Amino acid sequence: MHRIARATFAVLSLLTALAGVPAVAAGRVAHSKSKSYHNPIISGFAPDPSCIRVDAQYFCVTSSFSAFPGIPVYTSRDLVQWQQIGNVLSRPEQLPQLALVNQTTGGIWAATIRHHEGVFYVTTTLVFDGAPQLSPTRWDNLIFNTTDIWANNGNGWSDPVHFTFQGYDTSLFWDDDGTAYVQGSHAWHVFPAIEQFKIDVRTGENLSEPIILWNGTGGLAPEAPHVFKRTDGYYLMIAEGGTGLGHMVTMAKSPNVTGPYTGYANNPVLTNANTSEYLQTVGHADLFTDTAGNWWGVALATRNATANYPMGRETVLVPVVWEEGQFPVFNGATPGRAYVNMTGPLPASQRPTFSDMKDPLVGRAQHVVFPSGPHASLSDIPRQLVYYRLPDFSRFTVSPPSHPNTLRIMGSAENITGTGGIGTSTFIARRQDALEFTAEATLEFAPKLSDPVVEDEEAGMTLFIQRTQHFDLGVVALRDATSGKLGKFIRLRTFSANSSADGMNDGYSQPGIVPLPSNVDKLRLRVQAVNASTYAFSYLASGVRSSKWTIVGYGAAREVSGGFTGTLVGMFATGNGHNSTTPAYFSDFTYEPVENVY
Ligand SMILES: *[C@@H]1O[C@H](CO)[C@@H](O)[C@H](O)[C@H]1NC(C)=O
Ligand SMILES: *[C@@H]1O[C@H](CO)[C@@H](O)[C@H](O)[C@H]1NC(C)=O
Ligand SMILES: *[C@@H]1O[C@H](CO)[C@@H](O)[C@H](O)[C@H]1NC(C)=O
Ligand SMILES: *[C@@H]1O[C@H](CO)[C@@H](O)[C@H](O)[C@H]1NC(C)=O
Ligand SMILES: *[C@@H]1O[C@H](CO)[C@@H](O)[C@H](O)[C@H]1NC(C)=O
Ligand SMILES: *[C@@H]1O[C@H](CO)[C@@H](O)[C@H](O)[C@H]1NC(C)=O
Ligand SMILES: *[C@@H]1O[C@H](CO)[C@@H](O)[C@H](O)[C@H]1NC(C)=O
Ligand SMILES: *[C@@H]1O[C@H](CO)[C@@H](O)[C@H](O)[C@H]1NC(C)=O
Ligand SMILES: *[C@@H]1O[C@H](CO)[C@@H](O)[C@H](O)[C@H]1NC(C)=O
Ligand SMILES: *[C@@H]1O[C@H](CO)[C@@H](O)[C@H](O)[C@H]1NC(C)=O
Ligand SMILES: *[C@@H]1O[C@H](CO)[C@@H](O)[C@H](O)[C@H]1NC(C)=O
Ligand SMILES: *[C@@H]1O[C@H](CO)[C@@H](O)[C@H](O)[C@H]1NC(C)=O
Repeated sequence: MHRIARATFAVLSLLTALAGVPAVAAGRVAHSKSKSYHNPIISGFAPDPSCIRVDAQYFCVTSSFSAFPGIPVYTSRDLVQWQQIGNVLSRPEQLPQLALVNQTTGGIWAATIRHHEGVFYVTTTLVFDGAPQLSPTRWDNLIFNTTDIWANNGNGWSDPVHFTFQGYDTSLFWDDDGTAYVQGSHAWHVFPAIEQFKIDVRTGENLSEPIILWNGTGGLAPEAPHVFKRTDGYYLMIAEGGTGLGHMVTMAKSPNVTGPYTGYANNPVLTNANTSEYLQTVGHADLFTDTAGNWWGVALATRNATANYPMGRETVLVPVVWEEGQFPVFNGATPGRAYVNMTGPLPASQRPTFSDMKDPLVGRAQHVVFPSGPHASLSDIPRQLVYYRLPDFSRFTVSPPSHPNTLRIMGSAENITGTGGIGTSTFIARRQDALEFTAEATLEFAPKLSDPVVEDEEAGMTLFIQRTQHFDLGVVALRDATSGKLGKFIRLRTFSANSSADGMNDGYSQPGIVPLPSNVDKLRLRVQAVNASTYAFSYLASGVRSSKWTIVGYGAAREVSGGFTGTLVGMFATGNGHNSTTPAYFSDFTYEPVENVY
């Protein structure tokens, strides 16, 4: 982990700039002078980025797997300050099939955003990872569209058009004659390959049989294809090597959109493989130009902060020089590298122009005050908060009359791990987008201890990475083995994917349990990433004189395997086997990142 003092960093970047180090200074049209910035630009659970510019505004989408709302859309005017403006997938009716996803690695994969003749398009694949590779039911390919990306609070996207393709990472390209082509990574029935076919984007109808464009350079899993047209021909950019340490970006070129494509002699064009750079797994790139004509690449990367990657795959930005007739050069070298400390010809610093400025920028603090009043509804919940799979909305209520400015959650019978198949646990959370942070919520939860039905009812805060990996700090009604009476406890349970049984400690975490006085119904709960490898869980009893923060236990981030997704932190309730009878009221959810810690 690296702590960067802002002042020191500014001085160093100035020195770097004076020394003429930035390789991009040679870019065709400089945007003022080279400026410094930090990667990732979109931090925390922001994999498989795809970005475009429309006029002076930049837009990106990332993969969301089982999170709902899904496919977050981010915007920026300076490529450094990003703000989420909405979600492509925001209404359950758009994709009821999301509820059927039953694997942690399934759900929404790799979206691509494009803008054509006034319409925004997002292509993506809903992946049923439990199904056999070749099953036609494994890949549900989709195209969403909108003419106004700001409409309906950023949630104005169409229902998807479904189209048939035996694979994933689908992306659109329109040639000058208006023909739309889908490029995608075909499932490995014979051999892995990048395929292409013509499509009617309005209906999803295929207008030609798929053809193989390129097999890549021989790396694992050729995927993430994007086609770009330049004056001298068509360029195909893909990812190879798998999304792990061997990840890389390779390119090929053809005089014809349909090929044959010839691989670049100096592939890969971008990778951090076989280096000891802090950012690893760099790949799955997209390219766009800024307002001054400079090219930029975005890609996913993970930080080597612990043995695993608690924040999952994140979005990095790399300056690109792309001369006509040549392959692009990423960050001044072939292969290009992505670093935390970068310089490039950035646009002038400007906040995004989203109307609702109460919304936090990526990597900045958030304070959620649930609205009250007669019109308060779930649609007032900030767009950064997500459920896991499609929720049972009837279990969530914003500000019931007795409890203004709260979110009431009636815990489902499912615990957060769930049954392994289909099931809806009742939790809502946001992305961890800083290596160190403090998140808190006030919880009012008063199970009637005289009523045996409340046994095991629980509510609190969770640090969640996947069904089998989460740390839950909950107030819970438990029966005392000796007295046989129900008592109130605050408990941290740690669930790890490599535990031999659900509920077992992972060997590093420290679960804990503390009895609570039965009259303490209101608590402030805290989840803190104290460093890259440790989460601390604590509470403060409200209204109790001389109360102080008490640590209940620790969760080990090193046991949290980044996998495909990233970490969420938020609020949950569960009846642990039966539908809870006790309402849990949450208020003042706060998230305070420690900035400039990598
Ligand atoms: C999980 O999903 C796969 C693919 O849809 C399906 O084949 C399998 O039966 C499902 N498993 C459960 C436990 O629901
Ligand atoms: C947008 O999506 C809708 C499906 O919801 C489809 O009917 C319509 O044709 C699409 N429009 C365009 C321009 O692709
Ligand atoms: C569209 O796909 C179907 C099913 O794969 C195939 O039978 C048909 O020939 C394709 N249409 C065209 C025009 O290639
Ligand atoms: C891709 O590989 C397959 C199998 O080796 C081969 O038949 C095909 O010709 C290759 N296609 C291209 C475009 O290189
Ligand atoms: C491009 O492909 C078309 C159709 O296959 C063919 O007629 C044409 O000659 C090709 N052009 C070049 C430059 O390869
Ligand atoms: C990394 O090194 C391995 C082993 O030498 C090699 O097979 C692989 O191609 C290298 N990857 C990249 C992207 O250079
Ligand atoms: C990640 O960091 C650890 C500890 O510094 C180091 O041992 C390991 O080699 C690094 N991994 C890579 C891929 O550089
Ligand atoms: C970024 O630069 C700062 C200041 O020079 C340095 O302390 C830090 O270690 C660098 N981070 C990485 C990951 O290289
Ligand atoms: C969570 O729920 C599942 C399914 O009901 C159950 O098998 C598992 O034991 C529960 N885990 C805990 C720790 O309660
Ligand atoms: C989990 O995995 C780690 C690293 O492989 C190991 O040290 C630890 O003992 C394992 N924990 C359990 C409970 O198996
Ligand atoms: C992280 O914090 C925990 C709890 O304070 C401490 O035990 C551990 O040594 C720290 N780890 C590092 C790498 O600083
Ligand atoms: C919980 O309530 C739902 C309706 O909200 C019902 O479908 C389900 O069967 C109940 N589960 C249990 C275990 O009682």
